[in-house]
Amino acid sequence: MLKGRHLLDPRDLTIEETDNLLELAGDIFLQPEKYSKLCEGKILATLFYEPSTRTRLSFEAAMMRLGGKVIGFSEASSSSVSKGESIADTIRTISCYADIAVMRHPKEGAPKIASMYSSIPVVNAGDGSHQHPTQTLTDLMTIKSLKGSLSNLTVGFCGDLKFGRTVHSLIKSLSRYENNKIILISPEELRIPNYIRKEVLQKNNIEFIEVENIEEVIGSLDILYMTRVQKERFFNEEDYIRLKDSYILDREKMKKASENMIILHPLPRVNEISYEIDEDPRAAYFLQAKYGMYVRMALILKLLGVM
Ligand code: CP
Repeated sequence: MLKGRHLLDPRDLTIEETDNLLELAGDIFLQPEKYSKLCEGKILATLFYEPSTRTRLSFEAAMMRLGGKVIGFSEASSSSVSKGESIADTIRTISCYADIAVMRHPKEGAPKIASMYSSIPVVNAGDGSHQHPTQTLTDLMTIKSLKGSLSNLTVGFCGDLKFGRTVHSLIKSLSRYENNKIILISPEELRIPNYIRKEVLQKNNIEFIEVENIEEVIGSLDILYMTRVQKERFFNEEDYIRLKDSYILDREKMKKASENMIILHPLPRVNEISYEIDEDPRAAYFLQAKYGMYVRMALILKLLGVM
């Protein structure tokens, strides 16, 4: 039962719960009218202390398409946080108004703190460079629909593996399915954090390698997960400028990829996928964004105990 629980980390859901959620999301995608009134009378609160397009708006659209209503703020400056209110007091207050809360925050662990003071389910919509579990559900739904399975895949993660929270969450999740191989492609300065290498990959005996050159490995991939260099996490603009165009996926590089490889990206993109690639049938990142709404509809239904 997911009713009343928080979602802070992809591993808060068992594999069985994750698979059930994806199945429900698939059914909502096929028959949305069946679900269109199930959240009548319910309210979702979006507490966004950092910018967002996909996560916030897909959660809001998800609740509205389930017949519910939405309240919230899209920047801290328009809430009483700007007057110095704590996360604990904010969520205690929001718990009086809404049935479920979705929080994005620049500080790692902020949604966890909120969950400790909340009487309603709290969903982590991205905390600093840490985790982004609902993006992972979106990614898993896309992979399952295009590859038919979440096992036996060779997945390349390319770009900012240090600060990219979507990468950390998806690796955590994929490491629970059988026989997945991970290829980490990044410049030296943007390598995966040690806790993911040790506590997730090594601890779960996941086969993985770390390389700098995408062209060396692109031909072996079932999935290429491109990421943006996370400008907002850099302390020094010079470093960002030096690293921001480390990888640009273009037609030339895609000639070396398999015909069946799919390209994912959590978006937003900056320069790392050339616009010419959007026409390539292997580009799946806008389908991925679309699935985000359906998977969040499924999550809302489960956490509210409606299904
Ligand atoms: N993928 C993702 O989290 O996008 P937003 O920052 O637009 O929400």
